[in-house]
Amino acid sequence: MSRKLILDVDTGTDDAVAIMLAALHPELDLIGVTTVNGNVEVRYCTDNSLRTLDFIGRSDIPVFEGIARPLVRPDFPIPRASKKSTGVHGQTLDIPAATSTRQHQRAVDFLIETYRAATEAITLVPTGPLTNIAAAIALDPKFVERVPEIVIMGGAHHHGNVTPAAEFNIWADADAAASVLAAGFRKLVMVPLDATHQALVSMQACDDMAALGTPAGIAAARFIGRRIRAYDSNQPMAERNAAPVHDALCVAYLVDPTVITTTHLHVAVETQGALTVGRTVVDTNARGEQAPNCHFAFHADRRKFVAILRETFARVAA
Ligand code: BDR
Ligand code: CA
Repeated sequence: MSRKLILDVDTGTDDAVAIMLAALHPELDLIGVTTVNGNVEVRYCTDNSLRTLDFIGRSDIPVFEGIARPLVRPDFPIPRASKKSTGVHGQTLDIPAATSTRQHQRAVDFLIETYRAATEAITLVPTGPLTNIAAAIALDPKFVERVPEIVIMGGAHHHGNVTPAAEFNIWADADAAASVLAAGFRKLVMVPLDATHQALVSMQACDDMAALGTPAGIAAARFIGRRIRAYDSNQPMAERNAAPVHDALCVAYLVDPTVITTTHLHVAVETQGALTVGRTVVDTNARGEQAPNCHFAFHADRRKFVAILRETFARVAA
């Protein structure tokens, strides 16, 4: 039986790869995509998600547009103001315009109603700022207990990408992230930069994906190739000619949990610090008094991750 999931995305090149992986892997059943302000304005995130699904022949998967601004700080400077990141995504993905359209229902309503009516487990996978998820928690007191597992791309212990202290998704709506981390989810898995920076995809792997000749292989090579060029010039990784594809690692974890290695500990989000807004404070030495609330991935298996991408992108939609 396939595993049901909802992706909450700010598409974005790596979100698009995550969408394709979830939409094409035979053991996954992507029941909906919700969008949120982040890498680009939410309307572009929605358009990019629709383009991606159309391009791989999965326009049957519904897309719901979400919240356009951070919850508490509506004037916070996103979409992506960081000069270091321009070029990683662009505003519009480099594939043909969407022919399908978004659903009328709003993302937060879709999330609340889907979990309220669910008779099977649905994993929630947010790979953008956590605004929609925090809103669902605020609006439905039972939302948290209805979600069996939430797998978040965000945070960092040894890294920062948008500031020296913080990872973009958490920083972009730190108040929302703080509320999600503190909400008491049954199982919360965090896939931070510590893991994604170990799961680099090389230009050679991109060429292999393009050579598959499938829509997903071609699109993945294009999106990841763009990421590699941008990372090499603005944010070089330990290895040149390679880049992280953060969001897709969350989906790969659903296919094979051993693609990451997690530690169960307490994580909170800084919302006040003058220099550290959006930092994930990871209690690695059990110095705090709070019980573990997070399975935090410190490591990733690059070889397994790339193999999952390549095998899945060889497929075409039925
Ligand atoms: C995260 O930020 C976004 O730019 C990416 O899509 C990813 O979700 C990485 O920090
Ligand atoms: Ca993202």
